Amino acid sequence: MRNNDFNDVVQNRHSVRHFDKSVKIPRSEFKEMFEETVTAPSGCNLQGWHFEVADTPETIAKVKKYMLRFNDPQMDSCAAVVQVFADVYAYKKYRENWSKEYETGNITKEKLDEVLRTFLPSYENGTYYSCAIDSIRSCSLAAMQFMLVARNHGYDTNPIAGYDESKIARTFNLEPKRYLPVMAIVIGKSNETEETMAKTTRYPAETVYHFAE
Ligand SMILES: Cc1cc2nc3c(=O)[nH]c(=O)nc-3n(C[C@H](O)[C@H](O)[C@H](O)COP(=O)(O)O)c2cc1C
Repeated sequence: MRNNDFNDVVQNRHSVRHFDKSVKIPRSEFKEMFEETVTAPSGCNLQGWHFEVADTPETIAKVKKYMLRFNDPQMDSCAAVVQVFADVYAYKKYRENWSKEYETGNITKEKLDEVLRTFLPSYENGTYYSCAIDSIRSCSLAAMQFMLVARNHGYDTNPIAGYDESKIARTFNLEPKRYLPVMAIVIGKSNETEETMAKTTRYPAETVYHFAE
């Protein structure tokens, strides 16, 4: 059942840490959720995200090994864990991606020449650090979008960065210098009660914005 109440999807998203263990998510539904996630924006449309989905007891156990122990309740009850990675070398497909936009008719030859002349060199001449930040930034937007898409599908999530970063890429046979862990997202059907649900507050909005002078 889809939840199409935008306000409910966004404003009632909270980190859920206790899930109904009997609920599994079909892989066909994961496909749909990722199709709805990858419309997220990314710097120069580089889409440098990669999602590893652990949805079996064996793969969830592998993920649990690099998690800090305080995340055990989520790991022991979720339907799946989505480990989000940032591809630092996403910019290597810059020329190919933008040439495709030209061939499809989305941009003119002039626009193609312009982006290849201006943005591409800024990646090619950039540092590893600047490419990593660029990619992590875009992946964070995709991660947020995935969490909201999950709510639209009737699931809840908890973003997690309480883990041993050094072990993550190798767990999925990925090259650690290229694929940086952004966050893990546990997903499932909430089993929280009034007692177990962690409540959080925010700084008053008026303390976090300022109209620039
Ligand atoms: C990048 C990031 C890392 C987080 N890591 C963890 C974590 O390791 N374990 C956990 O239980 N919650 C984790 N959280 C969830 C936060 O504690 C939670 O979002 C925050 O307290 C606000 O609560 P809410 O999500 O219910 O609104 C993380 C959230 C973010 C955005």
